[in-house]
Amino acid sequence: MKKNLSNIKKAINYLNNDDCIAIPTETVYGLAANAYSNKATSKIFKLKNRSKKNPLIVHYYNLKFLKKDCLINKQFLKLYKKYCPGPISFVLNLKKDSLISKNVTNKKDTVAIRFPKHSLTRKLLKNLKFPIAAPSANISSRISPVSKEDVKDEFGKKIKFILDGGRSKIGLESTILSLIKKPQILRLGGIDKNKINKFLKINIKKNKKNNITVPGQAKIHYSPQIPIRLNVKQPRQNEAFILIKKRKLYDKNFFYLSKNKNLKEAAKNLYKTFRKIKKKKYRFIAIEKIPNRGIGEAINDRLMRASKF
Ligand code: TXA
Ligand code: MG
Repeated sequence: MKKNLSNIKKAINYLNNDDCIAIPTETVYGLAANAYSNKATSKIFKLKNRSKKNPLIVHYYNLKFLKKDCLINKQFLKLYKKYCPGPISFVLNLKKDSLISKNVTNKKDTVAIRFPKHSLTRKLLKNLKFPIAAPSANISSRISPVSKEDVKDEFGKKIKFILDGGRSKIGLESTILSLIKKPQILRLGGIDKNKINKFLKINIKKNKKNNITVPGQAKIHYSPQIPIRLNVKQPRQNEAFILIKKRKLYDKNFFYLSKNKNLKEAAKNLYKTFRKIKKKKYRFIAIEKIPNRGIGEAINDRLMRASKF
């Protein structure tokens, strides 16, 4: 507990000084900087090797802070009450007098925002005078990190500080919902789109594949940089084989996402498993068919993009 407090103090110091650090969230770790500062946010792009055209998600403590920067409507409030803090991001209109750095929004008048649930990051946000801009803490187009070790893996000594919050509970990025004009899902993620539909009693569509408004929707993304075959029943020799359910038969090339086809557990383990396989220097990955329900839909979305390598 004491250690956490002193680490939060360190994190506050770095952020107040326009530095860029890694923070834990329930989805994945983020590469964080003061969202109001041009200097701080430009460090994020440099470290990640990210195009300045790709806008960042801004993380808030609560509605009161958000209202300073964004315009909100009834639909947003309804969703906020139901899902926040939690693994969902919203694209909203910026207020004219918003202080958010132009780096964050790619000079547009909209911004993606979310309220992370992880307790350490909430404590951090509560003690800052600004919101935090934070994309996933990985080099662009690679796998998102779900632990302190993963962030180290990505950036080594280039990152000044990592706030250790243990393993990310969800393990996949947030769902992104645009509330500009008609509601539209821009990225599948931590919250099942069917649940949102049921709750709002409408039928929000996932945006079309060829309409790339979100680089996370680009064809190649979330990639372990190893060729992946999908929907495989039997692996080939030397392929790392990822399974959704434990088999009685043991093989050293088998990697399990869950004991018993639990999709939430599978989502949590997906990126970790990719990293493990990469470390073991496999050159090929095969993966069993993942049921396309609940968070399985988001898993399949990531697998499809990862397999385009
Ligand atoms: O779970 C998450 O959302 C994590 C954690 C750290 O919060 N963050 C994350 O950020 O996944 P990032 O930058 O890796 O992915 C955010 C996506 C990007 O693909 C970006 O293009 C899109 O959100 N985005 C940001 N602002 C946008 C906007 N105004 N309109 C549409 N898409 C936007
Ligand atoms: Mg990312």
